[in-house]
Amino acid sequence: DQSEVPEISRAWWQNHAADLITMAAEQSPCYVYHLPTISHQVNSLQALTAVDQIFYASKANSHPAVISHLYAAGINLETVSPAEIERVRQSCPDIPAERILFTPNFAPVAEYQQALDAGVHVTIDNPSLLFDNPEVFSGQRVILRLDPGHGSGHHRYVRTAGEHSKFGIPVGDIERVANWCQQHQVTVAGLHAHSGSGILDHNNWARIADYLGACLEHFPDTRIINIGGGLGIRENPGDAGLDMNALNDALRAFKKRHPGISLWMEPGRYLVAHCGVLLARVTQTKWKGNQGYIGIETGMNSLIRPALYGAWHNIVNLSQLDAPTEYTANIVGPMCETGDVLGIDRKMPKTQVGDVVLIANTGAYGAVMASQYNLRQPAIECTIETNNEA
Ligand code: LLP
Repeated sequence: DQSEVPEISRAWWQNHAADLITMAAEQSPCYVYHLPTISHQVNSLQALTAVDQIFYASKANSHPAVISHLYAAGINLETVSPAEIERVRQSCPDIPAERILFTPNFAPVAEYQQALDAGVHVTIDNPSLLFDNPEVFSGQRVILRLDPGHGSGHHRYVRTAGEHSKFGIPVGDIERVANWCQQHQVTVAGLHAHSGSGILDHNNWARIADYLGACLEHFPDTRIINIGGGLGIRENPGDAGLDMNALNDALRAFKKRHPGISLWMEPGRYLVAHCGVLLARVTQTKWKGNQGYIGIETGMNSLIRPALYGAWHNIVNLSQLDAPTEYTANIVGPMCETGDVLGIDRKMPKTQVGDVVLIANTGAYGAVMASQYNLRQPAIECTIETNNEA
C-alpha cells in the first residue's frame, strides 16, 4: 500500500487527510502550508546552540503567514529583492531594520542605495559594484559575500560557489576590496558565504566557517560570520538527512577558535519544505504502450522542481490512501511539454478521475517559482494553523 512508499513528511498531512480532501474539492489545485510543522523545524534549528542569529531565506516561501509565523518565532528575514523586503515589512509590521538582511546578486545599484537608506543589513558580492559607486558605499556598513571556492548542492543549477559561479568575491580580489573599504571608510561588519542548496553533509558549513575565519586576517574589526543556508532535508527515500548534532559540534569548535564572533545562518528550505503539500485532482488516466499516466490539474506551472532539477517529491493518492498500490505510473500535468512530469514510475493504487493527489515536501521553492505558462493559473496557497490531534 502507499504507506510503504518511503515517506518523509507524512507526519502532519496524514492526520489532516480528510480536511485536505475537502480543501481540494473547493480549490484544486492548491498549496497547503501547515504552520505547526514550521515551528517544529524552527525548534530543530534553534537546537544549533552555536548559531547566534538565523535569517530565514524568504525566497523559499514568501507567503505572508509563513513569514510572520517565522518572525514571531524569533527568526530574522533574508531577502534578495526590494519586493521581498516589502513583503517582509507588510507581513511583520513592527520588524526592526536590523532583523532584515538584503543579499541580492547583480541587482541595480539603486536597490542597494534604497536598502542602505532603510537601515537593513546589505551584502555585497562584487568588487566592481563597490569600485564603480564610491558615492553610494563610502562611509556605509556592509557585509561582504566571499566565494569559498567550491560549490555544493542537489543539482548543478543550485551550486553557488566556485570558479564558474556568478556569486561572491573571489579570493584573489579580497585584499583589494579590503583596502578599498578602508580608504572609503566602509565598515565591513560581516563576512558571508553560501555554497549551494540541498546539502546533507554537515562538514560543508564547518569548511565555510573556517574559510571565512581565515579571511578575517584582512578584516580585523569584523565580528559577524554568516555561513549561509543550503541545509538539505530528507527528500529522497535514500537520504540520510543532515546530522544536526555533528553540525553543532563543528560550529561550536569553530567558535572556540574565534571568540567574540557572532555566527549567522540563512536557511530557507530547512524551515519550510516539510510544511507544504500541493493538492490537485486527477483529470485523466491513460495507458500508452506499457506506460501508465495519471494526469492532474496542475504541473510545472505550479511545481517546476521535478522538471528543472529532476527533484523527487513523494506523491500519493490521498483519496485512496489505504488502498493497495496496483500499478506504476508517471504523474503528469496538463502543460504542453514532455518535461511536464511531477513523478516518474510511481507505485499508485487504482486511481480515478476526481481523486485528490498530494505532492509532499513542497513548502520550499514551490509556489514562489510558479508561472502562468499555457495561461494556466498556478495553485493558490492556503494555510492550516493548528495541529490535528488525530
Ligand atoms: N542564502 C543565499 C545567498 C541563497 O542564495 C539561498 C538560496 C539561501 C540562502 C537559502 O538556501 P536554502 O537553505 O533554501 O537551500 N530553487 C532551488 C533552490 C535555489 C536556492 C537559491 N538560493 C530548489 O528548488 O531546490
